Amino acid sequence: MCGIVGYIGYRDAYPIIIKGLHRLEYRGYDSAGIALYDKDLKVYKKAGKVSDLENFVKDVNLKGSIGMGHTRWATHGAPSDRNSHPHSSGDRKLTIIHNGIIENYANIKETLLAKGHVFKSDTDTEVLIHLVEDIQKETGLDLYEAVRITLNKVIGAYAIVIMSADEPDELIAARKGSPMVIGVGKGEYFIASDATPIVEYTKNVIYLNDNEIAQVKRDELLIKNIDNTIQTPYIHELDMKLEALEKGGYDHFMLKEIYEQARSIRDCLRGRIYPSLGKIQLGGLEEYSSKLKNVDRIIIVACGTSWHAGLVGEYLIEEYGRVPVEVEYASEFRYRNPIITEKDIVIAISQSGETADTMAALELAKERGATIFGICNVVGASIPRITDAGVYTHAGPEIGVASTKAFTAQVTVLTLIAFYIAQQRGTLSQSRLIEYLTELNEIPNLVDRTLQCNEHVESIAARFKDSNNCLFLGRGSSFPVALEGALKLKEISYIHAEGYPAAEMKHGPIALIDADLPVVFIATKNASYEKVVSNIQEVKARGGHVIAIVTEGDTQVRDMAEYVIEIPQTDDAFVPLLATIPLQFLAYHIAVMRGCNVDQPRNLAKSVTVE
Ligand code: F6R
Repeated sequence: MCGIVGYIGYRDAYPIIIKGLHRLEYRGYDSAGIALYDKDLKVYKKAGKVSDLENFVKDVNLKGSIGMGHTRWATHGAPSDRNSHPHSSGDRKLTIIHNGIIENYANIKETLLAKGHVFKSDTDTEVLIHLVEDIQKETGLDLYEAVRITLNKVIGAYAIVIMSADEPDELIAARKGSPMVIGVGKGEYFIASDATPIVEYTKNVIYLNDNEIAQVKRDELLIKNIDNTIQTPYIHELDMKLEALEKGGYDHFMLKEIYEQARSIRDCLRGRIYPSLGKIQLGGLEEYSSKLKNVDRIIIVACGTSWHAGLVGEYLIEEYGRVPVEVEYASEFRYRNPIITEKDIVIAISQSGETADTMAALELAKERGATIFGICNVVGASIPRITDAGVYTHAGPEIGVASTKAFTAQVTVLTLIAFYIAQQRGTLSQSRLIEYLTELNEIPNLVDRTLQCNEHVESIAARFKDSNNCLFLGRGSSFPVALEGALKLKEISYIHAEGYPAAEMKHGPIALIDADLPVVFIATKNASYEKVVSNIQEVKARGGHVIAIVTEGDTQVRDMAEYVIEIPQTDDAFVPLLATIPLQFLAYHIAVMRGCNVDQPRNLAKSVTVE
């Protein structure tokens, strides 16, 4: 949902900004723009990707040691040159970049139009910079103070950076509801939506809080809140490796991230399980262990892939911890007056930790007295900062817009939580816990083995790449895996795909089956295996093409399905961690074969900070 970068210091700003925009392009790629100051304020912007902007500016003077850049995911106004950021006030002396939404922009715009302001875009953002200009004109205040007064008049979410030709030695940055990190160097500062554009220059960062405004000069940083109280920032040390932000020889980030899953699950388990003792330690939840022991109900709120992880969590927590779980779309939950009590634990799952609907659902739960937990990947993001407690997934930066390693890491954390609850409540014997944790500890190795299916899946992808529809079916905790397989395929290859519980097929989707329809079954050996086998027969009888994910050595389904993909034998509890992988490969290869941009699928953005 838009990425922003700013730099002030002694180096050339342009290379830092453009590289930062490439790193943040996962947040939106409808248009890109930059502003630089060198004797004059210059703004260049272009619809399209960051590389289109680079082409656009290749012959212009890009000097300047202060500047900012923006990569856009369009909300108000089509993705065009004129709607690209930065947006400037009438005489271009002031310019702004913005990530978020200004809800009361129409009212503000009306007032400004009446005063003679002329607008050049259809965006909500532009009203902000005109309002700052208006306040400066009327009051003679400096930029910092004028921005503070402006933000007091604004309803909505924002992370903004503002530059002024009249005050050229400072950047003004502010946030509310959209992320913003300030990197602290020596004689220089960096501003960005996340730490990825900053990490190669400094490890010292400040996460700006909601309602804070920073005046950033080369040697000085002043942070106030919008009520004008000076804030004392806390400097965090980044734990992020530069290699994690590069493709590292892979064709796409998505492929790299699929391959990283053995490592990411291992990192997620590290220091948290002690198989020989049958013990789980979740430092982040320690303080709430007795709450977990006595809890009557857990509600999980999330969106998209994270919601699918929540559904797997529901199976695991109910099965092993014996606590009732409800899994809710955060966007529905927040608007339907849900019944929440202070006895409830509400867990938000979010890779980015910034998803607007998930944040709002959590805030509602908090307001109503529930204890709120977070399962997030991005350290220091908004969700982990508002929750009472939580567990980080430690998957490392996920750059491909389609979530892969973040999903399996979320499922890993939920698995840990399920067994942690079982440990607190005594719903599993010590010997069973030892068995489960011993098997869980093996999962990274089994993931490594599962990854070897890549070439086989690629050949299956070649057979089905021209399909128009695809069905994914599974039962139990393989049902959310089916949903996830369908989401992956549709979002990156634009093939219509649906996931269903296998037994639901006969209640409607069976009508879709014909000689053109591939049906992907998750048909591993478990209690419902025979029932899934019957569903496979039903598809075959109607001429559909069956692709089945089966347990290594399975012969029954092999004899029936057109294609089988084997995954290693493991306990049912851990099947989602393995069965998801071939589905990720399938979506990936089909999308590549169809010529789609797998890392940046159309219309999507990774971090959805608007409703
Ligand atoms: C799909 C995908 C999205 C996200 C969803 C929630 O591949 O990535 O469906 O899962 O937008 O995002 P987070 O997890 O950041 O809250």
